Amino acid sequence: MTMRILYVNPVGEIGGAERVLLTIFATLKQIQPTIELHLLLFSNGPLADQSAALGVQVLVLSLPERLNQSGDSIFKQNRKLLGISRLFGDLTLSLPRLVKYLMVLRQTIHQIAPDLIHSNGIKPHLLLSLIQPRSTPIVWHIHDFYSSRPLVAKLLRWASIRATAGIAISQAVAADTQKCLPHLPLSVIYNSINIHHFTPSESKVLSTSHPTRIGLVATFARWKGHKVFLDAAAQILQTQLHPSVHFYIIGGPIYKTQGSQYSEAELHQYATQLKISEHLNFLGFQENIADIYRWLDIVVHASTEPEPFGLSIIEAMACGKPVIVAKAGGALELFTHGIDAIGVPPGDPPALAKALENLLSHPELCLKMGDQARHTVTKRFNQEHYGEQILSFYARHHSHQSEISKANL
Ligand code: GLC
Repeated sequence: MTMRILYVNPVGEIGGAERVLLTIFATLKQIQPTIELHLLLFSNGPLADQSAALGVQVLVLSLPERLNQSGDSIFKQNRKLLGISRLFGDLTLSLPRLVKYLMVLRQTIHQIAPDLIHSNGIKPHLLLSLIQPRSTPIVWHIHDFYSSRPLVAKLLRWASIRATAGIAISQAVAADTQKCLPHLPLSVIYNSINIHHFTPSESKVLSTSHPTRIGLVATFARWKGHKVFLDAAAQILQTQLHPSVHFYIIGGPIYKTQGSQYSEAELHQYATQLKISEHLNFLGFQENIADIYRWLDIVVHASTEPEPFGLSIIEAMACGKPVIVAKAGGALELFTHGIDAIGVPPGDPPALAKALENLLSHPELCLKMGDQARHTVTKRFNQEHYGEQILSFYARHHSHQSEISKANL
């Protein structure tokens, strides 16, 4: 019998968690062409078309705008009271709409009648727990450190009673989840990528005909460390040792939640303040990100908070690039310092500048590290076995849930 799986994702924009979904779709369809995959989104965006192109049936049920904008990040601006009243104000105003939305959501899921629901973000975890029919197993794909968000962690703890099991994207995320949700059975399944798509450039020789290109590839979430990157850029430029380096910021805002993201204008202003605008370009979201990694010479990951995984790190490594990584959280599990990437303390512009300086002065080190990086990803994060890992995880929890349902009859 072929399985019917329903995926639920909060946004239609494509960030790391969404790229992981696309990888799941591609690998599952490859190993089990008859599998029936459905995707339900809380807002529309390019993920809808890209999933449909992989044979997934997509449905967008737009969450009322006000609710989409509510999130715990408004608490992080040192204006707790304002945050609390705004959040509750939002919720009270939207309550009737939320109830209506939940009814439609429940009906839609009932019609799809999935064998299993795969929830891919905090909002779906919470909303599904309010309506999920008991007999359908629901698994949570955990892409975040919940303990850093106390309000969310409390809500999730309560919601997790309705979840069957979780996939943690790294050991660090598993350890954190276990603290917050001690009863949720967890499996660590590392994110994987298509190493035939993320490939090194054909020419291995470092080009001297263009300025050295240094890039940060990330969504505009504030903790992705854009200002650390810009501060380090300013330090490199100040030394005037490498006048022909150029810095690039690739990506943009993806969530509608207020207060959690930079705007491009704000980053422009910061760069102007640092007097580095001439050496900086914003490239926005790029459809073919593999081309961008190949085009860059050095890739920087600068998150100021522990990174749950850091998909861009392994993507850039697979493209044979030297990557500087803010060494905290799951990101630490992806590389060996000094061999296939360089680790620096998070939120430390002088340390980042020093690591950049080292790579800029040693082009042969860049090549060697890039080769090692490609080797590591090919061995450890190749999507070849990813589909099987996910399917066997589903199978374990599907049969387990069926037994529970039978016992309850
Ligand atoms: C989230 C995490 C990031 C991870 C991605 C894919 O965006 O913040 O670290 O790489 O999900 O799992």
